[in-house]
Amino acid sequence: MADYQDRRETLSLKWRRAKEGVLPFWIADMDYRSPDCIREALKEAIEEPLGYAANPDGYLPAFLEWEKKYQDYEVKPEWVEFAPGVVPAMHWLIDIFTKKGEAVIITPPVYVSFIEAIEYNERKRIDSDLVWDSWRWQIDFADFEQKIIDNDVKAFILCNPHNPTGNVWTREELQRLLDICQKHHVYVIVDEIHQDLYDPALGRKKVTAATVGDYDDILFTLTAASKSFNLGGVQNAFAIIPNEENRKKFAKYRKVLGFRGGNTLGYVATEAAFAKGREWLEGAIEEIYANEKILRDILLEAFPDLAITKLEGTYLVWIDLSRWFRSEEEVRSFCEEIGILPSFGEEFGGERYGSFIRFNIATSPENVKEGAKRLAEGLKKRN
Ligand SMILES: Cc1ncc(COP(=O)(O)O)c(C=O)c1O
Repeated sequence: MADYQDRRETLSLKWRRAKEGVLPFWIADMDYRSPDCIREALKEAIEEPLGYAANPDGYLPAFLEWEKKYQDYEVKPEWVEFAPGVVPAMHWLIDIFTKKGEAVIITPPVYVSFIEAIEYNERKRIDSDLVWDSWRWQIDFADFEQKIIDNDVKAFILCNPHNPTGNVWTREELQRLLDICQKHHVYVIVDEIHQDLYDPALGRKKVTAATVGDYDDILFTLTAASKSFNLGGVQNAFAIIPNEENRKKFAKYRKVLGFRGGNTLGYVATEAAFAKGREWLEGAIEEIYANEKILRDILLEAFPDLAITKLEGTYLVWIDLSRWFRSEEEVRSFCEEIGILPSFGEEFGGERYGSFIRFNIATSPENVKEGAKRLAEGLKKRN
């Protein structure tokens, strides 16, 4: 099991934003002590002067091996481009492969940075909303394709596994989406940053979009060690771009921005994670899915018909509170009253998600239990 670390007095953004007595369940960040292999590798690295450094020899091989072993994805070394984060790479790809005013499609509710990548780059945002069918958020394929045709969509940003609904998309779902995109010449940016975080009891493996067929000319896979190993602070990510011409455009863009590469500590931590971190990750996953049971048991016992996602992947639980609240403002003041700080719904697609919260369970069982109790008891008082 993962080793909980109290982060209230640390630099943790997640905990700094929570006022005294408030439990934070917002940003996608874990409260577990970093794996020994990462801490030791970083300690060793800071014993050297932190001048310009070569990348560790084992960095790329460790990543390629990990992708092959755990993602069934045989990545050729020359396909891999460095990025200082999945989000920056997403912004760059939108800027390189679409023009101002052109349409980019997403499937809300979705991670806020997808929305920002479209809006900050002045592209036209097209939403094909996921549909709740009483047990899982589903893709409306007919709507997705029609919107692509009607709006002459140029790119699609896909989240696999999906933040915030926790879907681990099936091979069939991925294939249908990618076939539609290929048919209509739509580039696909697939964010697989949560790739390793899925329920071992799911009964199927998480599938990497790039492995479901030959989509090399339209597909960009973005991933990192940062969600699996809680390394968001070291800013090291991978853009996997099999098409040579596309890859060259990406590499040139990064050079123009002046990014020659990442910081040394990011490379060191990422290499250690992929080379030696598997056992730690499995412990964290065990803890996360045990925490999910705690959350569900408490909330569903109080409200058996609560619309709460059953996690397939990620550690983020999407909960519908529309039975009690009509706006984000109401949800915010309720959460403040009961002393929890989740992520609030509107950022995932707009006002229609204002009565949702996203609840991060990658913390201790005690915190999850306490947060769930505050939520259940607070809601009961409003029944
Ligand atoms: C789906 C998704 N993509 C990207 C990120 C952040 O990526 P990065 O820190 O590498 O820019 C997050 C963080 O929560 C995320 O959930």
